[in-house]
Parts: sequence; structure tokens; C-alpha cells
Amino acid sequence: MRIDIVTLFPNMFSSPFDESIIKRAIDSRLVEIVLHNLRDYGLGKHRVVADYPHGGGAGMVLMPEPLFAAVEAIKGKSEIPVILLTPQGRLFNQKVAEELVTYSQLILVCGHYEGVDERVREHLVTDEISIGDYVLTGGELAAMVVIDAVVRQLPGVLGSEESARDDSHSTGLLEYPQYTRPQTYRGWEVPPVLLSGNHAEIAKWRREQAILRTLARRTDLLEKADLLEEERKMVEKKSN
Ligand code: ADE
Repeated sequence: MRIDIVTLFPNMFSSPFDESIIKRAIDSRLVEIVLHNLRDYGLGKHRVVADYPHGGGAGMVLMPEPLFAAVEAIKGKSEIPVILLTPQGRLFNQKVAEELVTYSQLILVCGHYEGVDERVREHLVTDEISIGDYVLTGGELAAMVVIDAVVRQLPGVLGSEESARDDSHSTGLLEYPQYTRPQTYRGWEVPPVLLSGNHAEIAKWRREQAILRTLARRTDLLEKADLLEEERKMVEKKSN
């Protein structure tokens, strides 16, 4: 997979992509991440990329020319999703991450200042994504969040010990509680079933815990989750 990022602040990306699992994925060529400085496509001697909004108002707006030039230089004639990170986009979640990982290339455009010229939205980008209902100083952190969630799903990126199978959200439920050594810490015990060696009982306990935890914290998820008849009954009993 290849991910191109158009940004005014390429240096913001160096530390997150130079650590841990994403670094390993880049080093083993499972993903290629290419940064493009929007400033390089700016207009005139001063490489201008933003201007005051027509009609007045606060702040600066990213101009169309540099954004079109940057994105068109990356994609040429090919059809590649061009995603603008913006608080006005569709909400990012695990499902969207699973959709994006199916593409061999993505172009992420990081907005800044008061936003982008509307013609960029109408005629250049093919998708707009928000990572949540709050406003960041720019699309860079949002792009990092999207890339992290997408790249960790690429085959081979997570080792088997880091398997994504039981992750919160990948099953539609929050993940069950995890315990490691020691067996007793400050008098707090690990649930005995986890030490029983009975894999069927452990799986049953984990499934139940995942459902109860989702019920306690995120009932909105539970409504959409794929539950067995008896699991639905348990939920109904617990919530009455
Ligand atoms: N840019 C500013 N805020 C954002 C958000 N919540 N999601 C995506 N991009 C953004």
C-alpha cells in the first residue's frame, strides 16, 4: 500500500512514523508513506498557499491552485481516493478503516487555517473524513490517526502476538478485560477462570465480559452488534 500526504507541516509526521509498529511496516515495505510539502506548490516567490476569504471573515483559506497542483502531480491520470481531513467529513471508525485498507493507494490532504476553498471539496477530493466532533489545529493529527488504524490492518503488519482479531471494535464489541502476571497484585486476584486452562470456559467468559463491558460503556454499539439469541436475552436481563 502507498499513502501520499499533502501537508504544510511534513515534519509533524516524522516521530509517529519512526516508532514501533508503523516504523516496522515501513521498514519491511508493507507500506510506503510519501510526504508532499504543500508549500512547494505555493504561488510566486513567496510560495503563497492561503488567502483571505471572499466576503470577509476571520482567518485564511487554502487556495485551490496549490492543492490541485500537488494532488494532480501525485495521481497523474490514475483514479486514487483523495481524502480531505476535516471536521466536516464523515466520522472515522473501524469500518471506515477496513474500507480504506482495501485500496492500494490513498492521497490524504491535510486542511489548515480556516479551511479550504470550496472548489477543492467539489472538484478535487473524493472523500472527506473527520476523526471526531472536535476541532484540531489542522488535518495532520487526524491523518496520523487514520494511517495508524489503516496500516495496522495490512497483512503482516501485526505479529500473531499482536493479532487484531479480538480488538475492541473489530468484533463490534469492546474488548474483554486482560490480565497478566502476577496472579495476585496488592491482593487483587486474576479471575480464576483465566488460570483454569479450560479454553472453552475462557472463551465463554471473555465473550460475556465483552458484551457486559459494551453494555456498561457503549450501548450504542451493542444495538448494532452481532449477538446470539441467548446473548440478547442476557443483555435484556442485565439492562432491566
Ligand atoms: N481537522 C481539524 N479538525 C479535524 C477533525 N476533527 N477531523 C479531521 N480533520 C480535522
